[in-house]
Amino acid sequence: MNRKWNDNVGQDHVFHRNFNQSYPHIAKGEGIYLYDTQGKRYLDGSSGAVAVNIGHGVKEVVEAMTEQASQIAYIHTLRFETKVQQELASLIASLAPKELDTVYFTSGGAEANESALKLSRQYHLGNDHQGKFKVISHSISYHGNTMRTLSIGGDQKRKKLYDKELHGGVIQIDPPYDKRNDFQGLHEDEYVSCCLDQIEKQIIKEDPETISCFFIEPIVGSQIAAFVMPDGYLEGIRKLCDRYDMLLIADEVMTGFGRTGKVFAVNHWDITPDIITFAKGVSSAYAPLGGMIVKNHIIQTLKGSWDGKFAHGYTFSGHPVALAAGKANIDYLLDNDLINHVQEKGRYLYSKLTELIGNFSCVGSLRGEGLLLGFELYKDKQSLEPFKPSQQVAETLNQICIENGVLFYPGQGSIDQHPFDHMLVAPPFVITEDEIDLMIDLLEKSLRTFRNHFC
Ligand SMILES: Cc1ncc(COP(=O)(O)O)c(C=O)c1O
Repeated sequence: MNRKWNDNVGQDHVFHRNFNQSYPHIAKGEGIYLYDTQGKRYLDGSSGAVAVNIGHGVKEVVEAMTEQASQIAYIHTLRFETKVQQELASLIASLAPKELDTVYFTSGGAEANESALKLSRQYHLGNDHQGKFKVISHSISYHGNTMRTLSIGGDQKRKKLYDKELHGGVIQIDPPYDKRNDFQGLHEDEYVSCCLDQIEKQIIKEDPETISCFFIEPIVGSQIAAFVMPDGYLEGIRKLCDRYDMLLIADEVMTGFGRTGKVFAVNHWDITPDIITFAKGVSSAYAPLGGMIVKNHIIQTLKGSWDGKFAHGYTFSGHPVALAAGKANIDYLLDNDLINHVQEKGRYLYSKLTELIGNFSCVGSLRGEGLLLGFELYKDKQSLEPFKPSQQVAETLNQICIENGVLFYPGQGSIDQHPFDHMLVAPPFVITEDEIDLMIDLLEKSLRTFRNHFC
């Protein structure tokens, strides 16, 4: 048969992320490395989009997916159940903070966050609080690229395009991000309590009877590279949520499943959210998988007021092959004790980065937890003067790094209209100290080229 695609060979029919860019074709991945079809090797210092936590090419995961696909590749979860769904849900519940014991599956992070937003609304409606629909979120945050998740996120550049369509009902507050790290001359706890007082005033101004949930990344990923909430902040937000009957939803899409050295980033503090959303690291991106872990009181409301139903669902929710990837990935993390080594590797990486950035006047504000580290790029790090946004310096550094065979995760955030460029460093958990040294050498080489152009 003369298939149409034969005539099209040699033409590009892919809707690329950027039509003006060319993309190396990747043929293979192994451990922390990717190889393109020309044989060039790339050290994956960002685990893809901070997702491939166990590294590339793990055969145990591939075998589990193959085995599952050969048994049953798909069922409709409106009608049926699979063993792998039961198994993965119990495994995740056993790792989650206690009281969070029911797991809903999606195909990615934005879907997980959409699901949590809808569940929060349905929960309040079920409790006869019709007015509660608004979402509080940080003005620098990322929660996904669907219209609703974009509207609660803080990526101003992407949001600008859709300002006519984006949903209302979002209260954006500034995160407790303090570039100079001097807490505006206060002690850390005084600074945190000032931030919390301002948030409470805002809640009262907006009317608590209209607010459904507080949506937060406990450690911010792509918008303020690896910014860790100060101690006391999340505990304070938890108290405000209890006081004003708002659900606390922790977006752990990037941080979940060990990235910061604990299974979930919220484990660094003494708090329990009402919902944790996850994706990326749950399957180390071997298959599209995400979801949310839900506290029991929310499930009781669904059972009591909604005849047990959540008015939501996707064709691919609970996809057996994706779940098999998730189960095999978590087994691999646990069997090889990978999460317990993330903090020690992170400390080594942090010390190497500290040494490195000491030699560059345009790099500063190193921060993060475990293997989620980040730094900012400055025209002058003494005065913290940023580069002009139009210079796109993080993206330029990224391109130099790619040339040199090392991959990181560039970004541009903005606070109070003051944009800044930054970079995430987040290698797979299997990286060794020698490989960290190599990654640092490649970054140093790239920064030297960058400095010649910009500093
Ligand atoms: C914190 C956070 N939330 C949500 C998302 C969206 O996830 P996805 O791209 O899987 O939709 C991301 C993706 O980077 C993320 O980092």
